[in-house]
Amino acid sequence: MKYQLLIGAVLGAALTGAIAAGSANAVEYKIVEDTVPQSLTGKPGDPANGKKTAINRRKGNCLACHDMPIPEQADHGQVGPPLLGVGSRLSEAELRMRVIDSKVINPDTIMPAFYRSTGLHRVLKKWQGKTIVSAQEVEDIVAYLMTLKE
Ligand code: HEC
Repeated sequence: MKYQLLIGAVLGAALTGAIAAGSANAVEYKIVEDTVPQSLTGKPGDPANGKKTAINRRKGNCLACHDMPIPEQADHGQVGPPLLGVGSRLSEAELRMRVIDSKVINPDTIMPAFYRSTGLHRVLKKWQGKTIVSAQEVEDIVAYLMTLKE
């Protein structure tokens, strides 16, 4: 009897999680040869907001791993490649794929998938079914990266 109650509670929690993941704020995106050619929102990205989102430690936190041309911020990480000039090296569609989910390109990368809400493991409850940044923030970050020309 006690067990049934317990199982019911666990199942209930699992179902809630599943629904949250399915109905998350995530917009569907289509991957074409390791790129995401289509904008997630259809609205042009705002590079100034993209820079802010990239710096924000609760959002992109890109500086933790990347050197970026943002001298006003201290402590740039060296784990990933420097992002100066990345707007010349990679196309918008390639950049969008990397920000959404770098693991599509390199399954072993430590770079977080900023816009993937399914297939994640050991996710804190409050983050289940949620993406790290919003669809428009992905577009803003991509627009900012496109300004980093060599
Ligand atoms: C935990 C560390 C980490 C964080 C945080 C991180 N990255 Fe990365 N990133 C990497 C690593 C490592 C690579 C190298 C490629 C790989 O691992 O597959 C990379 C690669 C990239 C590339 C490809 C660069 C190239 O020249 O090929 C881009 C673009 C990029 N990251 C953008 C970002 C942006 C934008 C953010 C913040 C929104 C970010 N990264 C946050 C670790 C990180």
